[in-house]
Amino acid sequence: MTSTEVREKIIQIALRRGIFFPAAEIYSPVGGIYDLGPVGRALKHKIIQLWRSIFIERYGFLEIETSLILPEPVLKASGHIDHFSDPVTTCKLCGNKFRADHLLQENNVNVEGKTIDEINQILKVADIKCPTCGKKGFSDVEFFNLMFKTNIGPVEGTRGYLRPETAQGIYLAFPRLFRVYGKLPLAIGQAGKSFRNEISPRQGFVRLREFTQMELEYFFDPSNPSVKGLEKILDKTVPVLTRESQENARKSGTEPEISYLTVRELIDRKIAPNEPMAFFLGLASEFYSRCGIPKGKIRFRHLFMDEVPHYSGGNFDPEVETSYGHIEVAGIAYRTDYDLKSHSHLSGKDLSVTLPDGRKIIPHVVEPSLGVERLMWAILEHSYREKDEIHDWEWFDLPPELSPYDVAVFPLMKKDGLAEKAQAIADGLRDKGLSVLYDESGSIGKRYARADEIGMKWAVTIDYDTLKDNTVTVRDRNTAKQVRIKIDEIANFIKKNAGIN
Ligand code: GAP
Repeated sequence: MTSTEVREKIIQIALRRGIFFPAAEIYSPVGGIYDLGPVGRALKHKIIQLWRSIFIERYGFLEIETSLILPEPVLKASGHIDHFSDPVTTCKLCGNKFRADHLLQENNVNVEGKTIDEINQILKVADIKCPTCGKKGFSDVEFFNLMFKTNIGPVEGTRGYLRPETAQGIYLAFPRLFRVYGKLPLAIGQAGKSFRNEISPRQGFVRLREFTQMELEYFFDPSNPSVKGLEKILDKTVPVLTRESQENARKSGTEPEISYLTVRELIDRKIAPNEPMAFFLGLASEFYSRCGIPKGKIRFRHLFMDEVPHYSGGNFDPEVETSYGHIEVAGIAYRTDYDLKSHSHLSGKDLSVTLPDGRKIIPHVVEPSLGVERLMWAILEHSYREKDEIHDWEWFDLPPELSPYDVAVFPLMKKDGLAEKAQAIADGLRDKGLSVLYDESGSIGKRYARADEIGMKWAVTIDYDTLKDNTVTVRDRNTAKQVRIKIDEIANFIKKNAGIN
């Protein structure tokens, strides 16, 4: 099966099982906005929980929730008003708008780093047809700001924008939180929606206008960048596309090779610009591996200095191989003191902090910024399995800790008190903190198939023996093997085998 066929299969399952589907679909669909059904929401929740456990809770970092609406000056200071734009061109015949650089890229013309005049010249001479109407003829390229503009308050109000990243809210909260916690380093994360008015999002769930980010800003003193807890992950490996490997590949016209480097090597060989960067590269590598992205399918691309903003001290983009090519699922960036300095300057508020030794500094920041939906798509692609000798249906081999619900509970039949017993067991498991999918409709075979199709790892079946001896069967999705255990052992069995604490 080709990767495009796999993509189609996943979309069909997603629509059939209500994992995700276009928003407002009874009207003409608008690209880039999707709704999640119960299974999609449950899977997204598991992904965010995993991020939270690795990036926030393990080290006692802080998590906050900041406003989705931001007043204009915030985004002036962050640079989004002036620089957050993409080149757009319009088909003169059908009127559809396209991102000029993507249009050219799809026709094997790379315009990275080119000016708008250069892009215009290239587009004029390139033999490119409109992807919608198939005719030739594009307007001059213009820059289009990607933020959604709104008014805060009635009539004209004050100009505001839906946040294009969650990070700005964290910078704005930093001065208050520093007053509360009073020390560096200070690590503050948040998971929430961001909005970008992408020009022509044609890649399904991968390029969205409304999406979710899991971001963390690690504020630290650049003269003392050591990270508490770093020693625990020094031997973890990170799949890095070094600059050297990218250069060699460019010269030889081959695919760049991934180097599996430990966090310690990233520091010792000065590939990471500082300890916090190496630390978060290690955590991100662990996170993606626990999300089930196979080795060899993810690479942390070390960006060249001409690819990153002028203030950056270094960036790595984790990219996952998918049917859409390599997609960037995160950005891990050393943002120096740029954001706090800009907000200090524009707001007129001094955002420097005084350290115990009396020094006054603007903290530096390392930012791991991870997207949820792109990752969710990548997880689905890599866990998708076709029918096999055990499964007469397609299924998702999701890691147990990402099973949308912790456990499915099925009565063998609805009659003879089995359904009532199964419901009581499901309630008992919920009381013990597990999420439960209860299903009593159709044959037991169909229910196993439906559970496999959404990637459920464990299914508990209540049968006639249950009524006699209070035991149930627990079926493993991958092998379809069943073990018989006591009702009061189910919760521990699931927690132990799914790594739930
Ligand atoms: N604060 C830094 C920041 O926002 P970014 O590289 O623009 O960095 C981080 O975004 C991540 O957010 C991306 O790697 C991607 O996973 C996700 N993301 C960004 N734009 C997206 C879009 N239009 N649709 C889906 N996910 C997106």
